[in-house]
Amino acid sequence: MKSKIAMANWKMHGDRATWRGLARGIANGTATSGVDVVICPPYPALADVEETLKGTSVSLGAPNVHQFDKGAYTGEVSAPILKEFGCKYVIIGHSERREYFGENNNLDLAEKIRQCIRHDLVPVYCVGETWQQREEGKTFTVLDEQLLDGLNDVYISMPDQLIVAYEPVWAISALIGERKKPTADDLKEVFRYMRQAMIAKYGELGHDIRLIYGGSVGESNVKSFMEVEGLNGVLVGGASLDDKVFSDIVQKISEV
Ligand code: PGA
Repeated sequence: MKSKIAMANWKMHGDRATWRGLARGIANGTATSGVDVVICPPYPALADVEETLKGTSVSLGAPNVHQFDKGAYTGEVSAPILKEFGCKYVIIGHSERREYFGENNNLDLAEKIRQCIRHDLVPVYCVGETWQQREEGKTFTVLDEQLLDGLNDVYISMPDQLIVAYEPVWAISALIGERKKPTADDLKEVFRYMRQAMIAKYGELGHDIRLIYGGSVGESNVKSFMEVEGLNGVLVGGASLDDKVFSDIVQKISEV
């Protein structure tokens, strides 16, 4: 049985005065939820948050990783460094990385995913279409390509070695503009498709790979998202910056 997961993606928010308090609040507020809770802070917060989370059930994750172990790659962070700071999860190919930093080569992302698995880090591979692609009816073509290339030569022996997140670019709160917010109905077909894709690629393991959703998740809609068949958790941006709100989201997940 897959356990449900709630990931807090703090992006480039907060500061040294607030990170610890936020992490502590989340750890306290979610301690008895039975949901796997993960905090992904900005890199410079890893040490403080790692220390704060010691002895709690909350895990640490990173927002990105480089595909090599070390070298002259200014501005990058390696998997061994992330391990040293206690990370267990890594977000790969987040839609903001794809949108603002040109991280659209799925084969490069596959390298990062393989690097995570080599180092016993769980990659959270984000896929999702833009608004324009959706309007043009290309959602499944885009997902096909992102899953096929991004998981190229990615082998796992246990389902919990990989998480795939559907993060449509158009649904991320910071990118959403005037467009409509996603609803559970928007997700049903996608999660049916993604589950089938996982089973096609990984056989029996595919049933148990966790598939999560990210994009404008909040207290009011999280339950409806969690009721979508095949969906095992959420990646939360804006609403994870308030420990009470995020703890409430986790509580609601535990009730579904
Ligand atoms: P959001 O971000 O919840 O603020 O839409 C989600 C994400 O980008 O992971």
